[in-house]
Amino acid sequence: MTPISEPLLDGRSNVEERKLAARVAELGQWFHNLDLHGVQTAPDHFLGDFPNVKWKQIAGSIPQDLSGATVLDIGCNGGFYSIEMKRRGAKRVLGIDVDDRYLNQARFAAKTLGFDIEFQKGSVYLLGDVPGQFDYVFFMGVFYHLRYPLLALDNVIKKVGGKLVFQTMIRGSQETCDWQQDYPFWNKEIFRNPDFPAMYFIEKSYAQDYTNWWIPNCGAAEAMLRSSGLEIVDHPESETWICVPINSQRNGRYILDLELEGKL
Ligand SMILES: C[S@@+](CC[C@H](N)C(=O)[O-])C[C@H]1O[C@@H](n2cnc3c(N)ncnc32)[C@H](O)[C@@H]1O
Repeated sequence: MTPISEPLLDGRSNVEERKLAARVAELGQWFHNLDLHGVQTAPDHFLGDFPNVKWKQIAGSIPQDLSGATVLDIGCNGGFYSIEMKRRGAKRVLGIDVDDRYLNQARFAAKTLGFDIEFQKGSVYLLGDVPGQFDYVFFMGVFYHLRYPLLALDNVIKKVGGKLVFQTMIRGSQETCDWQQDYPFWNKEIFRNPDFPAMYFIEKSYAQDYTNWWIPNCGAAEAMLRSSGLEIVDHPESETWICVPINSQRNGRYILDLELEGKL
């Protein structure tokens, strides 16, 4: 049997590892599986080694060297993407989330790994409280959890100084096509086409999660990104898009403000 105090390969002892594992457990159930010096925070995640499996597909679309960059991670959860951005040398990373449990996990993970990352309680609907814009804004895995998804996206746009990294659950058609600018009132055919942009509304619950509200098909996800004034510059995996704002303002005013005033 291994003696309890035998040093591990990275110089930590079994005792330290057990303390770390105990603290991880105390912080509640984790959604992000992080590797904290050999301690996995969510080893039995129903999506596998999540979000590492997703990140592997996206990582190549974001520069390896983010020196000097600022990053906002909306719905940061346990801090996986915030930590990855800091690993790449981002100057400032701010993670926000509405859930204290996840924020505490993220703070603990960043501290344990030695990364200086700010984590704040905040909502995507209240981004006006967050000053300035960011070179990279991550808005991953939050969209379909919102009752007011387009309101949120139009809010997010205001924070994007460089690129938006956007991910949503997709259900229904994965196909997209170029739709006409307009259709006659009596054309009901287009709505029978499964590729036409559409969102599924979950009145009750999906995947045993009552916070899943609106799940778009692929056409709707891309159409909404464009409609919010974004150009899609990369689509590294089926649920993730990288976008830049090209048309998010009209005469210097954001779409959200114009819409709220009835002037869009
Ligand atoms: C499915 S998790 C996604 C976590 C992470 N971004 C990822 O992609 O792995 C959704 C996260 O969004 C957070 N969230 C839900 N509503 C939010 C809101 N209105 N503003 C900010 N975060 C929110 C949840 O607390 C949760 O941490």
